[in-house]
Amino acid sequence: MADESWTEVDAYIVGKLLPADAALDAALERNRAEGLPAIDVSAAQGKFLHLLARLAGAKNILEIGTLGGYSTIWLARALPDGGKIVTLEYSPAHAAVARQNLGAAGQGDKVDLRVGPALETLPILATEGAIFDFVFVDADKRSNPDYLQWALRLARVGAVIVIDNVVRRGAILDAASADPDIVGTRRMFDAASQEKRWSATAIQTVGSKGWDGFAFGLVEKA
Ligand code: SAH
Ligand code: DHB
Ligand code: MG
Repeated sequence: MADESWTEVDAYIVGKLLPADAALDAALERNRAEGLPAIDVSAAQGKFLHLLARLAGAKNILEIGTLGGYSTIWLARALPDGGKIVTLEYSPAHAAVARQNLGAAGQGDKVDLRVGPALETLPILATEGAIFDFVFVDADKRSNPDYLQWALRLARVGAVIVIDNVVRRGAILDAASADPDIVGTRRMFDAASQEKRWSATAIQTVGSKGWDGFAFGLVEKA
């Protein structure tokens, strides 16, 4: 019942504030046709991430968890000329769909898509000396504590780090949860609570993706 109204309100917001977008629609359609799970950010959330990246003046963006590149398109479009987004994806099948979607959306040249477990590709980025202004974490939630540490290592002071799916319909409250994704996100919150380098909050969200939330914070000087 609640979820139906949330979805209707999301449709209202999208109808008012998000113009029809053939490239984004085509990406979701290709994802569906290729059998990818429909766990992309919502349109309203995608535009929110896009606006955050613009507010941050981000020239170098890191995304952990590409899926079919729906959020990647939103973030790539936030980049100024010469800006780049590195996006990390475990699944070669998802990455292949993402490459097609990003190319069709005219964003391929801005996107450096690296295939493999992010805990293997993140150290490579570090050895390359990569530094990011904006990080969006949206992969396997069990690794969220590690992803927060990597994001802090690879982000400049003043960068923004956003982590998706930190509420999970309230499941995050379950201290006894055996779900590794809940355990991982709770450990991320524990680390964040002690973390001087990240001034963070979390915002619960409802909408077409149900009840969930984003953690969001600014990277501070150590
Ligand atoms: N950001 C996307 C959705 C990502 S869904 C969007 O909003 O459009 C999560 C993605 O993380 C999936 O494609 C999954 O294959 C990927 N993933 C899971 N484990 C991973 C890992 N260890 N390293 C990198 N990506 C991973
Ligand atoms: C789900 C949603 C997400 O945004 C995600 O990154 C992973 C899973 C889900 O609804 O299952
Ligand atoms: Mg997500």
